[in-house]
Amino acid sequence: MSTPSKKIGVFDSGYGGLTVLKEIVKQLPQYDYLYLGDNARAPYGTRSFETVYEYTLECVKKLFELDCELVLLACNTASAKALRTIQQKDLPTLAPHKRVLGVIRPTTEIVGNYTKTNVVGVLGTSGTISSNSYPIEIEKFYPELKVVQEACPMWVPLVENNEFESEGADYFIQKNLTSLLSKGKNIDTIILGCTHYPLLINKIKKYLPEGIKLISQGEIVATSLIDYLNRHSEIEQQLSKGKSIQYLTTDSS
Ligand code: DGL
Repeated sequence: MSTPSKKIGVFDSGYGGLTVLKEIVKQLPQYDYLYLGDNARAPYGTRSFETVYEYTLECVKKLFELDCELVLLACNTASAKALRTIQQKDLPTLAPHKRVLGVIRPTTEIVGNYTKTNVVGVLGTSGTISSNSYPIEIEKFYPELKVVQEACPMWVPLVENNEFESEGADYFIQKNLTSLLSKGKNIDTIILGCTHYPLLINKIKKYLPEGIKLISQGEIVATSLIDYLNRHSEIEQQLSKGKSIQYLTTDSS
């Protein structure tokens, strides 16, 4: 029997996916990982469907070429705008035995376990919010929930430009949170629907009333991946177990 040699690819437009990779590696340390950040073209959040799809597909192809059997789009914008087309249109011809997964579904599957008021807020990039992916997916699992959303177009640039601890970050975080809370008076749970946002968590907490739960995706996605690999032994058996992590970027490292 041949030795499994395939890696798990983790993709994001930039640094945000590292918040997800960290939790995955914590829960599944045995595998080999390849992280690809498309820093040269980040942020994706304000780009059109076509562009996000084109960039994401290019990066997925690269990860396949580099021997990834399974690619996780650790990017909500790419999950919202490109995942379905890649899964349905591209994969069958490109690599029918490989898999591409996203981060929105695992989050929407469990959000009902957190809220008591049945009012949930979603923070995300302009692309994720305008796609309506969160309300659409949440409705499938929890039709009783009210979902209110807020696009935060400045948050990813603040992280990508290393300004996430600056006073400028406070201004935009407070502005977007105030706007979100004004749209849903009884919000008790907020999804950080962008993998960059956990890097802003201290400032986000500073401007939120006590008692509101914040859902970051790292742990949720990691738990969901464990479940996926348990259910898909044909994929799991291909994965090499060398405990390595490699980082790639489309820009200067
Ligand atoms: N981390 C990506 C997400 O989860 C950020 C997208 C962007 O580059 O704007 O949506």
